[in-house]
Amino acid sequence: MEIIICPSEAEVGLVGAAKVAQIAARVGPEVVIGVATGSSPLSTYQALADRVEAGRLDLSKASAFALDEYVGLTHDHPLSYHDTIRRTVTEPLKMSPERVHVPDGSLTDLASAGQRYEEQIVAAGGVDIQILGIGANGHVGFNEPSSSLTSRTRMKTLTAQTRADNARFFDNPDDVPRHCVTQGLGTILDARQVLLVATGSGKADAIAAIVEGPVTAMWPGSVLQLHQHATIVVDEPAAAKLTMSDYYRLVQASLPEWQKLDA
Ligand code: GLP
Repeated sequence: MEIIICPSEAEVGLVGAAKVAQIAARVGPEVVIGVATGSSPLSTYQALADRVEAGRLDLSKASAFALDEYVGLTHDHPLSYHDTIRRTVTEPLKMSPERVHVPDGSLTDLASAGQRYEEQIVAAGGVDIQILGIGANGHVGFNEPSSSLTSRTRMKTLTAQTRADNARFFDNPDDVPRHCVTQGLGTILDARQVLLVATGSGKADAIAAIVEGPVTAMWPGSVLQLHQHATIVVDEPAAAKLTMSDYYRLVQASLPEWQKLDA
């Protein structure tokens, strides 16, 4: 794992965007990007949008696959992940809507929604770089603690903590859906590169657990220790409980020129 500790949330976004841009440059215009919802990746999306606006990045032929969706919200519901991805990713990054995919959380045909989504990812050639946030309990996508480390896209039940964490967006806490469709941890591991971004002290326990703790279904993000190319970009508060941060800073300070990101 590569751990990058940044002085601010804005810098997390710049570094995150530089990583995505590096992969896009390497892969070409048809790069496939895995995208996450939540507040964590917003500074990365902003920095990517700035690159697009400045003509330094063109994602018009790129594809995107979102991690997850609530069950039971219509696609145009403002809190559905379909609509969230449209607002935070598709439009600001000037991507083609027909190439941006979100799992289907409609109540009809839920049993096959996961398999269909897996097939769409395969048909697109797989994900080149997967952007991830992380929940306070270590969930990635909506893979809650106890999720199988080899899981594929399927329906899951949200924990009480995740529903409470996400209640801030809804008028009434009871309106938070109880179920979701999420890429599995095995699906996420199939991405060729993974970029996890986290900011704020509320993520410090999760970051310490997934980077320095054991690989365990109780901290689903810890599965990234099994990935060959996982980059974790955090601000100081999110890094506060890492015990080896001196080493991670030393690694970054000692990078050879060819490994440095153009942030
Ligand atoms: C949601 C999403 C996750 C996201 C997590 C953290 O539950 N399904 O993909 O990483 O929340 O959200 P935030 O970044 O807002 O803290």
